[in-house]
Amino acid sequence: MADENSNLSYGTGLKISLKGRIALVTGSSSGLGMEIAKYLAKAGATVAIHYHSEKQQAEQLATEINNNGGKAAVFGGDVSNRNDVLNIFRNIDDKLGLVDILVNNAGIDGKRQICGDDDSDEWEKVIGINLMGPYYCSREAVKRMKKSGHGVIINVTSVHEFLPWSGYTAYCSAKAGLSMFTKTLAQEVSESGIRVVSVAPGAIKTPINKDVWGNPDTYRDLLTKIAMPRMGETSDIAEAVTFLVSEMASYITGTTLVVDGGMLLYPAFKHGG
Ligand code: BGC
Repeated sequence: MADENSNLSYGTGLKISLKGRIALVTGSSSGLGMEIAKYLAKAGATVAIHYHSEKQQAEQLATEINNNGGKAAVFGGDVSNRNDVLNIFRNIDDKLGLVDILVNNAGIDGKRQICGDDDSDEWEKVIGINLMGPYYCSREAVKRMKKSGHGVIINVTSVHEFLPWSGYTAYCSAKAGLSMFTKTLAQEVSESGIRVVSVAPGAIKTPINKDVWGNPDTYRDLLTKIAMPRMGETSDIAEAVTFLVSEMASYITGTTLVVDGGMLLYPAFKHGG
């Protein structure tokens, strides 16, 4: 649907404005979530910064946004715990209002473990945070978005919604499951003014994979898995999310935008088969 961009003169640039929107970004005290929160705040949204254990970092981010012309407040809790999620949403209702944008970003890779020699509690934990979390948050968001008649939910999946990754059966299963959740929920809410889209990052430089990019040997090996000659930056993902939650993406729903520098392009074939 045309938005304020349709009133711009030619050559003046295009604008994304999220003014008046309330956005919850789960897991925004670090990494991808922190960058996404900053971008949404720059675009004018009021941001609910969610953290699980890094309260201080979350508060610092809120202070940075509030001191620089944006609006943000901090909410703590465990997304894999249903009651925590209810409380987070009730607190946002009271403090900021009804959520219009939900970014289900909170996630963990979990420990590398081979099925059979693994700890099944760890498996459940990964599913709990990466799949149950987005489900609990989405159901609260959808209730509110139906009242307002609009909303966007972004599920941060991974290239591992497509790519198997030995030692990470829980992670890959959660991300593939989240992808199908995106599609099915998008279909369910398609007549309520609500869009649901997945963003699948590749290898983005964040604390989650520091053990890989922090070591020269594993870093070199990682680069062979990406077609473009670099890892992703958090801004690569935040820019994609900002576009997808904006009116510019108003006809996009139930699909995945892959942001991976070509990790899914079988880079081993770059130099012939
Ligand atoms: C994981 C990262 C990994 C990347 C590429 C992401 O989903 O969280 O740890 O580097 O996929 O394999």
